[in-house]
Amino acid sequence: MNKLAENPIGIFDSGIGGLTVAHAIKNMLPHEELIYFGDTAHLPYGDKSEAAIQAYSVKIANVLLLKKCKVIVIACHSASSASYELLKEYVGNEAHVINVIDPMIDELAAHYCQATVGVIGTKRTIQSGIYLKKIKERDLPIQLRTLSTPLLAPMIEEGFFNNQISKEIISQYLSDSQLGKPDALVLGCTHYPLIKTEIEEFYQGKTVVLDSSVAAARSLSLYLTSSNLLNPSKKEVHHFYVSDYTESFEAATRMFFGETVKLESYPLWN
Ligand code: DGL
Repeated sequence: MNKLAENPIGIFDSGIGGLTVAHAIKNMLPHEELIYFGDTAHLPYGDKSEAAIQAYSVKIANVLLLKKCKVIVIACHSASSASYELLKEYVGNEAHVINVIDPMIDELAAHYCQATVGVIGTKRTIQSGIYLKKIKERDLPIQLRTLSTPLLAPMIEEGFFNNQISKEIISQYLSDSQLGKPDALVLGCTHYPLIKTEIEEFYQGKTVVLDSSVAAARSLSLYLTSSNLLNPSKKEVHHFYVSDYTESFEAATRMFFGETVKLESYPLWN
């Protein structure tokens, strides 16, 4: 066994979105100890510059390295598009870094060649052109249509979903001609799985809605298995840190991880 196997998995996002990824990891790898960091003080990431997100990502990586994480999962598309290459270099041999975009590209390559695929995400993710770049790099025959949907993450973060207003906002965005009626729609923001049912209702079964959380968990599982890093002893305790306390974060954490969750404050100082 690799001596780092018992070390935790670090996961971060701007807020509650990454909990969808953490939840998928918990289901797929129940023996792993998770350390989650929600950078609620800097939320939303989607309208920040690349440089600002890189700076936040490095600060969070320092926290996760201090806690001896064997892997850092960037559970945020905005940070994956802005900081993945930088973090890989910054972290070096101290931990392995996983993002949420590459596992989705693998899934598209396996099942959606020749299809029209839509991607919705924050301004940062969509303006970065990261999906198109990766699809071109791999020469995949996929027709890509992208649309930034900046109201969705703050709306979800406020606990605002499954109601008349969220349905109206979702329907306005998804009716945009830039997106058309794709064969599949990628939820290019880890907050969006929380409105997946509403999005599926909009398409009424005519478009497959793809969520990157399970793909990211699978990629983590493959890495841990191939590197002999699977934790052999079951860890029941996970840790949740936020750079600024918010009630909606606490409620969402309990929704995914049960009543026992204790939120810890960990300010990053600007
Ligand atoms: N959940 C994040 C993402 O996947 C960020 C949303 C935000 O903070 O704007 O992009």
